[in-house]
Order: sequence, then structure tokens, then C-alpha cells
Amino acid sequence: MILKAFRKRHAKQTWHWMNDAKIAIPFGRTAKLSKRSHEDWFRQLKHDKTKIMFAIATSGSNKHVGNIGLKTIDSRHRAAEIWVYIGDHNYQRKGIAKKAVNQIVSYAFKKLRLHRIEARVFEDNTASIRLFKKCGFQKEGELCEVFYHSGKFRNQWVLARLKK
Ligand SMILES: CC(C)(COP(=O)(O)OP(=O)(O)OC[C@H]1O[C@@H](n2cnc3c(N)ncnc32)[C@H](O)[C@@H]1OP(=O)(O)O)[C@@H](O)C(=O)NCCC(=O)NCCS
Repeated sequence: MILKAFRKRHAKQTWHWMNDAKIAIPFGRTAKLSKRSHEDWFRQLKHDKTKIMFAIATSGSNKHVGNIGLKTIDSRHRAAEIWVYIGDHNYQRKGIAKKAVNQIVSYAFKKLRLHRIEARVFEDNTASIRLFKKCGFQKEGELCEVFYHSGKFRNQWVLARLKK
């Protein structure tokens, strides 16, 4: 697994993943994403100092299989929120996300000098909760009924890893 700078060539595949409900709903995205909105988002990404994003590629074939990033980077409080997905379902459950999370956390602590990385995950997203726990994140609490979708309110867990 390698993390690569996120380039235009990665954006097209990403647009398809953002319209795949299995990938998008865990992020609270319920509406279809238009190509125009996606292109606008990509143009703004490089100017936004509160976000960093990498394409996840396989080390052998260099295949783009997912994405990972940090958002709400706050250099004053040295904190950020992490997110990740393996968009290509054939590459899930192969330990790729675990490696990617550990790598970006190490980058965040060493290079960005952050102290706290937080993950917000829907309480029924077992895969993601297990992933973050395996990567040393601890549950800190729950955000109750924070998200409304299909006639139901949903809870999120807040998990965090601190620099030791
Ligand atoms: C969550 C997600 C990123 C995991 O990616 P992955 O590459 O398949 O995960 P890994 O293979 O590295 O697995 C890491 C740990 O997560 C757990 N896990 C992963 N997929 C799981 C599943 N479907 N069910 C239960 N546990 C799962 C396992 O405990 C695993 O550790 P183990 O194999 O040592 O037991 C992937 O399922 C995904 O992209 N989901 C949709 C998007 C999403 O929910 N993103 C998280 C929101 S921040």
C-alpha cells in the first residue's frame, strides 16, 4: 500500500465512489454528487489549508483503490479529523485501510506536528469502528441523533488517538 499525492487523475474514480451508497452513506452523503460539484471541490482542495488528502494505491500494481485524508486541521490546537474509504470493494478486508490509517497518523504526528486525531463514525459502522480501534483509537463518547436520514436520527461515535 502506498499513499500518493491526490491528483486530477484520481478525481474521476473518486466521483464514482462518492456516488456509491456503500461508500458515501458512511460519510453522511445521501444526495447524488454532480460532476460539476465534484470538479469545483477538486479545484478548491489545493487552496484549503484545513484539508489534506492522499490516494491509496496498491504497492504492486499501483492501482488506485481508495482515499484517505484529514479535515478540520487546526494547527493552533494541533488537532484534525481523519476519514478513509476503500472504494474498490475487491480490495476491502486486505489490511489496506489499517496500513493507510497508521501511515497518515504517523505523518500527522511527525510532519504536521499534530497532537490529536479524531474519527467520527456511525455507531452501526462495525468495520470502521474495528479499524480505528485496531489503529489505537479509543472511544471518547457519542454524538446523539446528530444525523437525520430516511426518517431516522443516527448516532455517531467519537474515537481519538493522541500523540504519546
Ligand atoms: C471501513 C473500511 C475503510 C475498512 O477498510 P479495509 O481495508 O477493508 O480494512 P482492513 O482490511 O484494514 O481491516 C482493519 C480492521 O477492520 C475490521 N474490519 C474491516 N472490515 C470489516 C468488516 N466488513 N466487518 C467487520 N470488521 C471489519 C477488522 O477488525 C480488521 O482487522 P483484522 O482484519 O485484523 O481483524 C472499509 O470497509 C470502507 O471503505 N468502508 C466504507 C467507508 C467507511 O465506512 N469509511 C469510514 C468512515 S471514516
